[in-house]
Amino acid sequence: MTGSNRNLLVLPGDGIGPEVMNEVRKVIAWMGRKRAVGFDIKEDVVGGAALDKHGAPIVGATVDAAMEADAVLFGSVGGPKWDSFPFEKKPERGLLRLRKEMDLFANLRPAKVFDALVDASTLKPEIVKGLDIMIIRELTSGVYFGEPRGITTLAGGEREAIDTQRYTEGEIRRVCAVAFDLALKRKNKVCSAEKANVMHTGVLWREVATQLHKEHYSDVELTHMYADALAMQLLRSPRQFDVIVTDNLFGDILSDEASMLTGSLGMLPSASLGAPDATGRRKALYEPIHGSAPDIAGKGLANPLAEMLSYAMMLRYSFDLDGEADLVERAVENVLTAGYRTADLLAGVADDKTAAARGLKKVGTQEMGDAIVKELDRLV
Ligand code: IPM
Ligand code: MN
Repeated sequence: MTGSNRNLLVLPGDGIGPEVMNEVRKVIAWMGRKRAVGFDIKEDVVGGAALDKHGAPIVGATVDAAMEADAVLFGSVGGPKWDSFPFEKKPERGLLRLRKEMDLFANLRPAKVFDALVDASTLKPEIVKGLDIMIIRELTSGVYFGEPRGITTLAGGEREAIDTQRYTEGEIRRVCAVAFDLALKRKNKVCSAEKANVMHTGVLWREVATQLHKEHYSDVELTHMYADALAMQLLRSPRQFDVIVTDNLFGDILSDEASMLTGSLGMLPSASLGAPDATGRRKALYEPIHGSAPDIAGKGLANPLAEMLSYAMMLRYSFDLDGEADLVERAVENVLTAGYRTADLLAGVADDKTAAARGLKKVGTQEMGDAIVKELDRLV
């Protein structure tokens, strides 16, 4: 279906990005066919693919297209081919530029343990069963963008590297507001994480979160935790958390940690959102939190479910298609329950024989995508 008024920019990127995106395309096509949910799709290159084509990790026209689209569906960027490129030309800069120019300050990273995957986690089932947390990572400020930054040579010839952690009150406030708003629709709990014991940005963060809570969200339960302690608590008793809000760098690290509670980095989607404009529309980019995984790229081994679930988040947050988002999420859940597993989800299983004995079926990227489409057919 075309002429849908839903404009989507697809940026598969590098490594396993294009492979997992191909599986999502099957579901996009299915939605057009079976649910009359069509998109006007543009596609472009980013990251290493853009370096190869244009000599830059992203070009202005791509950024413009992203600004105009209703949503951007992103794969992953980076790989050994471009590792030795100068800092400003690294594939990752393409993604960082998009986040910054689109002002996507709120990064939603849900970590949910599907019942079928309880045994795939390296943690004991009784610790992770039923886990459903939402990490809100600030995405456009902090040490990722603070000035001054760079490597310089000191008078004595020794080199020095500087990165700057900085936050304004407004930047902290707007991301904390997103966390409180989401908590209201969930279990009503926010845990704000920083290191107010050693960092000024942490002191300000805690003050602003506390103030905003007092002014507008006193019905939500707010706690504060040092980010290191939170990293520990995530492993000790993760279910104590509902919504976690934290800065750009801590959020990057804590969300990778949280992904392992769910069994695999290959399961976690994310939504990066800007502020709503006058019409209520917010710029948005959806991406799995896993990277380009160059070691398995091109081998048909990658797990497409994080990209699939990112697409489901897009349906929900950018297009208010909750029913369709539920459908995709249910299909993922059912396919896992039926025993389909990409290699990453079998990490703790000794061999194929053990897997088979447990009713698990080892599949590649495409088979997993096909299984989702088949399950969607069965569901409607
Ligand atoms: C992520 C990634 C990115 C980040 C990289 C690819 C720039 O690790 O989205 O978590 O560090 O933010
Ligand atoms: Mn990361």
